[in-house]
Amino acid sequence: MSSASTLVPVLSPAGPAAQAIAEVSWVLITGATLLFVGTMALLAWALFRKRRGGEVRSLWWLAGGGLVLPLVVLTALFFYSLHRAPPWKAVPPADALVISVTGRMWWWEIRYRDPVSGATITTANELRMPVGRPVYLGLSSAEVIHSLWIPELGGKMDMVPGRVNHLLLQASRAGVYRGQCAEFCGEAHARMALHAVAMEAGEFDAWLAGQARPAVVSSSSAVSLQAGRAVFEGQKCAVCHTVRGVAEGSKLGPDLTHVGSRLFIASGTLKNGPLEMKQWLAQVHEVKPGARMPSYARLSEGDLDALVQWLGASK
Ligand code: CUA
Repeated sequence: MSSASTLVPVLSPAGPAAQAIAEVSWVLITGATLLFVGTMALLAWALFRKRRGGEVRSLWWLAGGGLVLPLVVLTALFFYSLHRAPPWKAVPPADALVISVTGRMWWWEIRYRDPVSGATITTANELRMPVGRPVYLGLSSAEVIHSLWIPELGGKMDMVPGRVNHLLLQASRAGVYRGQCAEFCGEAHARMALHAVAMEAGEFDAWLAGQARPAVVSSSSAVSLQAGRAVFEGQKCAVCHTVRGVAEGSKLGPDLTHVGSRLFIASGTLKNGPLEMKQWLAQVHEVKPGARMPSYARLSEGDLDALVQWLGASK
């Protein structure tokens, strides 16, 4: 799986919606460049002519270049961009995968429907999707306005409390595409990222089936994992976090079932690994100022390591 960290993601489309935006962008960039160069050339020509004592019919040029040309160019661009804009769809296409995404402060709650049981599968900050299949996102927010933008896959869409907006995305090739909250939403707005992970259909189905299962770390797991679970329970992490099969119910913070399978933690702020998870738990507010989770620097090294090991084992 390639990580697509391109210089200008908007101009490196990986799906039809982003393709249309990239095409419009190129037309605008090329058109604007041509008009600019043309205008500068005319200016140079006029100056040159004046210096030679020649006459420039300025009224004619003003009317032509200042009125007629912009009118023609802007009208053409208006209809062209209308024609090229991704169609807005009130109902999802028949073959679409429906995923709901809720903006939180400052992370993303993502919900899938289990195709087998119909139950809801909740995860966080990672939008896994099958390649080549339209994905119909239902976007909302819990507290304030956020905006979802994954430049390589499509345009942005606001997430507004109390309503559901829709966005139709499709990935044409497998990869990891970084998304970002695109509406200022408070202190940790800049660290409210998510990653769209486009996978081959079979791979995606296997992933979803895995996510549907409760966390593998049950009470019967190895002794070393039991220590981590004891820290999770002793520190009352379940007041905010759900780990299916261990502690269920709270939706205040990200669902941590299978958190070990995610590529990033803290909404795309850190890569997911034991070192990073430990750093995150011990230095929450250095890593992500404004984050609503308290720091766990007060835990002993042993307890931190056990907790990190237990969380990482939940794949
Ligand atoms: Cu959420 Cu900015």
